[in-house]
Amino acid sequence: MDKNTEPASGAKDSDVVLRVEHLTKHYPIKSGLVGRSKRYVHALEDVSFELHRGETFAIVGESGCGKSTTGKCVLRLTEPTSGKVYLDGEDFTSLKGADLTRARQKMKLIFQDPYSSLNPRMTVADIIAEPIDIAHTYKTRAERDARVEEIMQAVGLDLVFKYRYPHEFSGGQRQRIGIARAIVLEPEIVICDEPVSALDVSVQAKVINLLEELQEKLGLSYVFISHDLSVVKHISDRVMVMYLGHEMELAETDELYDRPLHPYTQALLDVIPRIGHERIQDKKILQGDVPSPTNPPEGCCFHTRCSKCMRVCTEKVPELREVKPGHLCACHLFDEALSEAERELMPMGVAQGAGAASPAASRQESGA
Ligand SMILES: Nc1ncnc2c1ncn2[C@@H]1O[C@H](COP(=O)(O)OP(=O)(O)O)[C@@H](O)[C@H]1O
Ligand code: SF4
Ligand SMILES: [Mg+2]
Repeated sequence: MDKNTEPASGAKDSDVVLRVEHLTKHYPIKSGLVGRSKRYVHALEDVSFELHRGETFAIVGESGCGKSTTGKCVLRLTEPTSGKVYLDGEDFTSLKGADLTRARQKMKLIFQDPYSSLNPRMTVADIIAEPIDIAHTYKTRAERDARVEEIMQAVGLDLVFKYRYPHEFSGGQRQRIGIARAIVLEPEIVICDEPVSALDVSVQAKVINLLEELQEKLGLSYVFISHDLSVVKHISDRVMVMYLGHEMELAETDELYDRPLHPYTQALLDVIPRIGHERIQDKKILQGDVPSPTNPPEGCCFHTRCSKCMRVCTEKVPELREVKPGHLCACHLFDEALSEAERELMPMGVAQGAGAASPAASRQESGA
């Protein structure tokens, strides 16, 4: 959807469970004696998307591109610098006190590393029951126990493990405990931040299957954050590609994988056969480094590594526009109104920016 034509802010639409509008996060860098900050990490810039009821919406991109920050800002685990989050049509970003606590029950998080988020001194039963203890959703001890057992069964944890401690479990089982805790209050949305990245490949498939089963049974909507393109292709309905805090492309999964429009998405997908598997973390997608998010390039943030960089790309941020129905892309290549001068391909070396790769090298790498 073109940002200029999107529906009125927060418009209630029963199919849309979560609407994120122009979300931006600049982390201050503390410096000087009084710790006053003049510089910022531009972690997230003007990101907008919708999550439909029962859908899995994936966010992909290289390490440091702002995926986790998006999740944290949506949940308000860190406050966004600007932008809005609407949960069931309600402005979640402006909620406070009891209203915020109530709304938070609708949206839960699953972490990459469940172990670090599980209290080592609590039994599995107490870990799973903690959210219902806080929310006071039961009347008797027996009701609490019954709910814990029901959830343990739903996530495939044997009831004999009820009074065991996190260190006694394997990575996959710990992730099941993390999932149990996330769903015990019956949320509408689960934000899964790299939920299988720390697991062995054989265990990954089982946890993914469990997430799919629970989605079907409980009608959950997922924001699925991952750098693993094969997992994303398998599990998601739609995909958003991020680079340096920006939303580069958004489309239905098959459309994005079969007909990527953005040069960055094309580079991500091109790399799969070369590296033999689909993990993009720590892999060189293109020549050169990702520019520093404290000093991002002017114009298109990808221009320092893009083989198709034109004059306009170094000057103007490309708008996210709907190039085909449901297929959004932020790239000047799809702006038909550009002048000849703006379309001028940048000569080698001119498109170089802060912390950037040599454009000459980038062009060779991409075969341009
Ligand atoms: N608390 C923080 N303070 C300062 N910078 C941060 C903080 N958290 C993340 N960042 C920076 O924000 C950028 C985006 O990080 P993150 O959202 O964790 O990316 P991803 O999840 O895609 O790997 C990175 O440059 C990261 O170093
Ligand atoms: S806007 Fe320009 S630099 Fe950015 S991806 Fe498109 S062609 Fe490349
Ligand atoms: Mg992350």
